[in-house]
Amino acid sequence: MKYVLITGASSGIGRELAKEFARKGHHLILAARREELLKELKEELETTYQVNVLYLACDIAEDPKALYDFCKTNDLSVSALVNNAGYGDYRTFAEADIDKLLGMIDLNDRALVALTYYFLKDMKEEGCGHIINTGSVASFIPGPYMAVYYATKAFVLSFSLALREELRGTGIHVSVLCPAPTRSPFWSVAGGETTAVYDNILARTAKDAAKTGYDLYDNKKAYAIDGPVYKLLIGFARHLPLELCARTVGFFQSKTKKRR
Ligand SMILES: NC(=O)c1ccc[n+]([C@@H]2O[C@H](COP(=O)([O-])OP(=O)(O)OC[C@H]3O[C@@H](n4cnc5c(N)ncnc54)[C@H](OP(=O)(O)O)[C@@H]3O)[C@@H](O)[C@H]2O)c1
Repeated sequence: MKYVLITGASSGIGRELAKEFARKGHHLILAARREELLKELKEELETTYQVNVLYLACDIAEDPKALYDFCKTNDLSVSALVNNAGYGDYRTFAEADIDKLLGMIDLNDRALVALTYYFLKDMKEEGCGHIINTGSVASFIPGPYMAVYYATKAFVLSFSLALREELRGTGIHVSVLCPAPTRSPFWSVAGGETTAVYDNILARTAKDAAKTGYDLYDNKKAYAIDGPVYKLLIGFARHLPLELCARTVGFFQSKTKKRR
């Protein structure tokens, strides 16, 4: 039996991705720290969609290999890996808590690289597989007031597209899901819950992002930005000189910061 493994499945986009994959008949392995939420989701998905759902409550940032070992020990074959777990921090770099910033790099980048590395070995043996990494619209632009977060997501896009190219012709695909600002618990974790994301009529839902994520799985494209307006905005921003782009993003983010 083949499984789709989704990290960060206890809430937000990961939870909706799990529903989307289950709706299409995929068996799932879910990972995040909050066991109760994973257990509830397992029960809901198994009852609604008649798929097998396993979960592991674990801290991926602390020990990414534990998740791989869980799959090996239980002889679970992972045909698609969705590296979705991640968090941000919304304040100036100088005011931020360094442990939160370093933990973010550990989760958003280090664990994503480690899990990709371990599961890729097995996918190579199988001669097929799909790795979907959650980036962001932040992957394309510098982001004052969330400087480290934006940089972690630039890493995800750069790493994933380079790896995709290395794997061309092997039967293994790598794609990047780039959500726009999305209503989810992400913003309370980041400390910006009353920012423009919640005031913003253009903000996306976790379900929107998950549908875009599933399309990536279906069509195996390199990346997808969720939402037509954000596709246009990022297309425009990429043509600005980088310094001006940083100033523009900083202007909007500093304004939203004052509303807190
Ligand atoms: N929301 C947005 O506006 C937005 C925009 C662009 C990109 N994204 C990206 O989308 C992804 C999902 O975010 P979201 O909006 O769905 O936020 P979310 O609702 O806060 O979900 C984050 C998920 O990551 C898990 N997680 C956090 N730390 C973890 C750790 N150390 N070990 C294991 N799991 C951990 C959380 O579960 P536990 O707390 O149970 O561990 C949760 O399931 C992230 O990569 C985020 O950067 C979000």
